[in-house]
Amino acid sequence: MKRSEINKIMLSADQFIQERGFFLPPFAYWQPEDWRAKGEDVGGIVANKLGWDITDFGMGDFSKFGLFLFTLRNGNPDNWKTMQGKLYAEKIMIVDQDQITPYHFHWNKMEDIINRGGGNLMIQLYNSTALEDFDRLSPVVLSVDGTERSFPAGDILCLEPGESVSLPQFCYHQFWGQGGRVLVGEVSMVNDDHTDNRFNPPVGRFPTIEEDEDPLYLLCNDYERYYRAS
Ligand SMILES: [Fe+2]
Repeated sequence: MKRSEINKIMLSADQFIQERGFFLPPFAYWQPEDWRAKGEDVGGIVANKLGWDITDFGMGDFSKFGLFLFTLRNGNPDNWKTMQGKLYAEKIMIVDQDQITPYHFHWNKMEDIINRGGGNLMIQLYNSTALEDFDRLSPVVLSVDGTERSFPAGDILCLEPGESVSLPQFCYHQFWGQGGRVLVGEVSMVNDDHTDNRFNPPVGRFPTIEEDEDPLYLLCNDYERYYRAS
C-alpha cells in the first residue's frame, strides 16, 4: 500500500470513530518526530503492538479486501504461561460496506466481535476440520450476546448495532459491512497477529508500504524505525 493511501485512511477513520462517540488514546496522535524522542516509559506500546494497523491483506485493493484496526490494549502472549500480567486485548476496527476480511481462525485467541454502530456486520462461519480445512457439514454453535445459537456450515450471521458474538479458537470467520460503514469492537485474549492468524487461503496480514510521502501517524509496524529507546 502507498503511505499516502494509509494516511488518508487514518484521517477518515479517525473522523468516523469520533463521529460515533468513540475516542482514541493520546498516543494515537503522536507524530513520527515525537516517537524519535520517546523514552523507555512508552516501551509497552511498542512491545505489545498497540496503535494503528491498516491492512489490504497483500491483495492491493483495500476497498474490496481490507481492514482498519487500532489496538487499544494488549498483553504479551507469554503471559499465558505465567498467568501474570495482562491476559486480554481490545481493538477498535472499521469495516466498510462489502469490504471483506477474508476467512481465518485463531489457534490461541478467543475473541468477541461487537458491532459498535453504523451498518450491519455480516460474519460467515465454518468450523475447522482437524486438517484446518472448512468443515462443510457440522453446524457452528456460538454465543451471540450470551445466547447460544446454531448456524449451518457457511451460514451468515448478521450483527446489528449493539450486537456481539463470541468466536472460539478454530472457528473460521470472514466478515464485511452491509448497509454502511461499521464501527467494530474486539475484546479478546492476548493478541499476536504475527503468529495467530490461520488464513484460508493464505494471505498477507501486514502490507508492504511504498513510502510516497511522510507518515501522518506511525503504524504499529513502523515503531522499530523511529523508536530508539528499546
Ligand atoms: Fe478474527
